[in-house]
Amino acid sequence: MSRGRALVTGGAGFLGSHLCDALLGDGWHVVVVDNLLTGRRSNLAHLANEPRFELIEKDICQPFDAGKIDYVFHFASPASPDDYHRHGIETLQVGSLGTFNALENARRYGAKYFVSSTSECYGDPLEHPQKETYWGNVNPIGPRSVYDEAKRFTEAVTMAYRRYHKVDTRIVRIFNTYGPRMQINDGRVVPNFMKQALLGEDLTVYGDGKQTRSFCYVSDEVDGFIRLSKSDEHLPVNIGNPNEFTILECAQLVVKVTGSKSQIRYEPLPQDDPKQRRPDITKARQLLGWEPKVNLESGLRLTLDYFRKAVEERTSAAR
Ligand SMILES: NC(=O)c1ccc[n+]([C@@H]2O[C@H](COP(=O)([O-])OP(=O)(O)OC[C@H]3O[C@@H](n4cnc5c(N)ncnc54)[C@H](O)[C@@H]3O)[C@@H](O)[C@H]2O)c1
Repeated sequence: MSRGRALVTGGAGFLGSHLCDALLGDGWHVVVVDNLLTGRRSNLAHLANEPRFELIEKDICQPFDAGKIDYVFHFASPASPDDYHRHGIETLQVGSLGTFNALENARRYGAKYFVSSTSECYGDPLEHPQKETYWGNVNPIGPRSVYDEAKRFTEAVTMAYRRYHKVDTRIVRIFNTYGPRMQINDGRVVPNFMKQALLGEDLTVYGDGKQTRSFCYVSDEVDGFIRLSKSDEHLPVNIGNPNEFTILECAQLVVKVTGSKSQIRYEPLPQDDPKQRRPDITKARQLLGWEPKVNLESGLRLTLDYFRKAVEERTSAAR
């Protein structure tokens, strides 16, 4: 039985493409709108012959009409630090104009709406671990503000459409997620370490490597999205893995999983780099019965083949 038509903005990206797979598996017809700024057609190549799937190449910062839809999943936005530094203005635009346009589609068709927000809303947090009730510690004019403030604005517009236009909204705050289909050059910790380890290069650790992150495997993360999308909760919900690792521990695990001989090299810490990040997932546990199942070592092993192929493709293209 068809559940209806779901619009996924940013569906050609890492998380959006995995979400498309889950929605198709759940019986949805899926329409992706993506301008391929940071996403890739190859992330959706396996759906080329799927009759319940469409890809529309379009910038959602321009008003658009996706046709009759029942659910909007708004995932479009550069997400990795390298991408949002390179595309700072586009990041602010998609978080603001793009969010208005995605919400207008939901409003026009009376569709439900689900938006991907981020742990970056908490900035360099003074509360640890971070609960959804924490308002954050964000530098509004620093280099990361193009992303952090765009996402905080995204949440504000979403809540306003709920209050003023009665759109049925949901907000997920995603913590670092990794898995197949990440770009190997996007500057995020896991792809960086994987690429360096597989090429036998030194692994670059910024600062003393004692800053912490929590890493969630993509299948766990998407399971959280689906559960939240089916719930009635409209306030933000953290979805992420609460097992905290120092960056140094993560580097050591990557070396172990890849069997690499790479060494660790230390470099200065970038400005406003958060010192610690860990979701408090009590709300997701109680409300959605959700918790992550894949630990970091298993997740890295599940991702290894993908990174190996991606590194080989890049090396042979460079030859
Ligand atoms: N991956 C993570 O760990 C993480 C963490 C927190 C939040 N998020 C959020 O999840 C969402 C997806 O992240 P991702 O990791 O898949 O990033 P990604 O860069 O792989 O995917 C983003 C997609 O949005 C598309 N896009 C960007 N601007 C667009 C525009 N103006 N019009 C149409 N499409 C546009 C890109 O082409 C890309 O396909 C983002 O909103 C991001 O902020 C991700």
